[in-house]
Amino acid sequence: MTTERRVRLHFADDASGEFIVQPGQTVLEAGLLAGLPLLYQCQSGSCGSCLATLLAGEVANCGGAGSTLLPSELASGARLLCQSEAATDCVFALSYSSAAGQSTVQRAYALVNAIDAVSLDVVRLSLELAEDYWFDFRPGQYLRLRVPGTDAWRSYSPSSTTHTLPQIELMVRLIDGGLMSSWLTREGRVDDVLELEGAFGQFFLREKKRAPHIFLAGGTGLAPVLAMLESLRRQGGLKPPLLVCFGCRSEASLFGTEQLALYQQWLPTLEVRIAVDEAPAPGRLAGTPLSTLSAADFAHPDAVTYVCGPPAMVDAAQILLGSWGVNPLRIHSEQFAPSAAGQ
Ligand code: FES
Repeated sequence: MTTERRVRLHFADDASGEFIVQPGQTVLEAGLLAGLPLLYQCQSGSCGSCLATLLAGEVANCGGAGSTLLPSELASGARLLCQSEAATDCVFALSYSSAAGQSTVQRAYALVNAIDAVSLDVVRLSLELAEDYWFDFRPGQYLRLRVPGTDAWRSYSPSSTTHTLPQIELMVRLIDGGLMSSWLTREGRVDDVLELEGAFGQFFLREKKRAPHIFLAGGTGLAPVLAMLESLRRQGGLKPPLLVCFGCRSEASLFGTEQLALYQQWLPTLEVRIAVDEAPAPGRLAGTPLSTLSAADFAHPDAVTYVCGPPAMVDAAQILLGSWGVNPLRIHSEQFAPSAAGQ
């Protein structure tokens, strides 16, 4: 690209912004420099936060992991703004409102209210914000907690919503030797103080209120889904069709089933499918959240899918749904990967 190009971005709330992209600049870089509230995280093409739909014009992919968008995704116009240089003047659509990217990072302190084992390898960490602190987040977003006594931070999605503030509830998967896992199981006590920051991430409910919502959750990927269900429960009016497919490796690892049963009472349009991979109990579905699905679940063209779980599950979901012709722009995902040093 040798000439500057003009790019227009349309947000889901009808707000839009126009800016110039210089040669060698990505659309994301230029948009951020222009002060637009764009969502992004890695800037290396791997997280999908900056996904947009190309409505007009042409872009050149500037390489990196972003070039691994599936052919079906590219064919439907999906582009990663952090990997795109404008080859011509371009117009993009974004799936989130202009308010979504405007949040600034908040820092707060919270006291431990309880640490409860809810399965073999998951604990529920109940926090209460310290006096004079507040913490806004969207259901589905994540926050970071500093492991006490270290400079290490770990990321968790609240299973609660801002309606219960100053209380915040997190589901933490325990990992052998993990820094936070060790603290929670050996040292953490009621009234200990934790430092937190956030909120982060582009995994939150989109504005499609009437479209069917399909949630695919593996392990502690259920936490943000619970927060989203609570948010939907509190919204007025008719509820859209809702499907939650949730799975854990074993019966001993399974958690959250009572909460899901409660949501089925509160939300009559909610169907829940729970699967266990190894030795499922009699009557339980065998397999993974994905194995409970069929193409018919995605028959509605506007269905919105939220996928949260281990990277392998998220990748497999994108491939499976792609093979069924699901529009990738209606799939929102968050990967829960243990940190390199353990969770
Ligand atoms: S910011 Fe992560 S893919 Fe673009």
